[in-house]
Amino acid sequence: MTVTSENSNNINRRQLEITGLGKIYPGGTEALRDVNLNVDHGEIIAVVGLSGAGKSTLLRCINRLVDPTSGSIKYFPSNGKPPFEVTKLKGNDLRQYRSDVGMIFQHFNIVPRLTVLLNVLAGRLSQVPTASSILHKFPDSDIDNAMTALKRVGIVDKAYNRAGDLSGGQMQRVGIARALVQEPEILLADEPVASLDPATSADILDYLRAICTEDGLTLVINLHSIDMVRKFTNRAIGFLGGKKVFDDVADNLGKDQYREIYGVEEGV
Ligand SMILES: Nc1ncnc2c1ncn2[C@@H]1O[C@H](COP(=O)(O)OP(=O)(O)OP(=O)(O)O)[C@@H](O)[C@H]1O
Ligand SMILES: [Mg+2]
Repeated sequence: MTVTSENSNNINRRQLEITGLGKIYPGGTEALRDVNLNVDHGEIIAVVGLSGAGKSTLLRCINRLVDPTSGSIKYFPSNGKPPFEVTKLKGNDLRQYRSDVGMIFQHFNIVPRLTVLLNVLAGRLSQVPTASSILHKFPDSDIDNAMTALKRVGIVDKAYNRAGDLSGGQMQRVGIARALVQEPEILLADEPVASLDPATSADILDYLRAICTEDGLTLVINLHSIDMVRKFTNRAIGFLGGKKVFDDVADNLGKDQYREIYGVEEGV
């Protein structure tokens, strides 16, 4: 699949350089082993592999929810500032970096008793003083941005509904809108459609791809369905036992590669 984007000048510029990344959890599980991975601005990359292969750990290392045991993650900001080492960030620098990296979760991570709008505004929390956010006092510009994000994911009519009353697909649209108002450079999505039916999944992935292409956002997405990987992403990374065993255009993810990653024939 070729990438067509108004932001194509953004593409082929490095965003992340991951070298020798390793993670051993307390207890001894080696979740990532010597992973090398370069990600360019605007790429849409699927991460695939068996349960336990290390997909979530990779995403969590990128946004530093998990501290890697070894290796390096170099981040190249788009604002012309010099690249920096993600694994060494602390305090304000870590908060600043995290605001560049939006997360989308399998179980949506919404607050059911709050309105859809407030759930989306939660994406602005790192930029709003604590007292204001507790009082749910967001600047008008944030509310405008949240409504625009809801329009983009097609649920602006639900802005004042209780988020817990939405369908799963609608909840994930809230999750995407919340990530967007954060104005990220990268979106990390950990099995964002694993809790949804196939038609709704395809719908959500269509939205995600369109938004990332329009905004020149990088997307790293963990996906279970290889058909969806082939259909929605440009490049696939395959993991087995914490090691990267495939890294190529998604169209080259054929039957042999499927067997190598999953240990069984495709369709079995
Ligand atoms: N917090 C943790 N403490 C200890 N071990 C962990 C922790 N998180 C993950 N692991 C282990 O690390 C390995 C990789 O887990 P990870 O969640 O990254 O896999 P995954 O590819 O995302 O799997 P799934 O498809 O089931 O989500 C697994 O063996 C898992 O049990
Ligand atoms: Mg996982």
